[in-house]
Amino acid sequence: MKRGVVPGTFDPLTSGHLDIIERASAIFDEIVVGVALSPEKGGGPLFSIGERVSLVERSTAHCGNVSVRPFDTLLVNLAEDAGASVIVKGLRAVTDFEREFQMAALNWRLDSDIETMFIMAVPEYMYLSSSAVKEIARHGGSVRGLVPEHVAEALERKLNAAR
Ligand code: PNS
Repeated sequence: MKRGVVPGTFDPLTSGHLDIIERASAIFDEIVVGVALSPEKGGGPLFSIGERVSLVERSTAHCGNVSVRPFDTLLVNLAEDAGASVIVKGLRAVTDFEREFQMAALNWRLDSDIETMFIMAVPEYMYLSSSAVKEIARHGGSVRGLVPEHVAEALERKLNAAR
C-alpha cells in the first residue's frame, strides 16, 4: 500500500491544487491531503481550518482514495502518523523552486525515510495561486474556472460577509 501526503494551506483550494491531488491519487493507492493551520501565513488565512478542510473534502469527494486531515505539526510528523512515505508537492514556475527545494531538504533532514516528489503544474495553472485568487475576488473579478464552483461561491459569501 503506497500512501502519499499532499500538504498545503489551501486558503482556498484552487483548480491547480485539485489537479495535483487528482494526479497524485492516480499514482498512489491512497492520498492524504494535509491542511496546515498556517496561522502565520499572510496575516492569517481568510478561511478557518474547518472551512478549508470542508472545501477540500467536497472538491475531492469524487476521488475514492483521498482523505483530508487538518494538521498543526511538522509535515513529516503528519506523514508518519498517516503512514505515508511520500510528500507530494505541486511545482509551478521556477519561482517555487527555491522554497520547495529548501522545504524538501529540511524535511529530508527531519526524516530521511520520507521522500518528496514533485508534480509539474499543467501550463493552464502555472500562474495560479490562492493569494492571486483572493486578490481577484476582492477586487470583484471573476474566479470562475480558477477554483471549483463551490469554492467560488464560498469565497463570494466570505468576502460579502467581511464587507
Ligand atoms: O500551501 P503552502 O502554504 O505553500 O503550504 C506550505 C506547507 C503547509 C506545506 C508548509 O508550510 C509546511 O510543511 N508546514 C508544516 C510545518 C513544517 O513541517 N515545517 C518544516 C518544513 S520547512
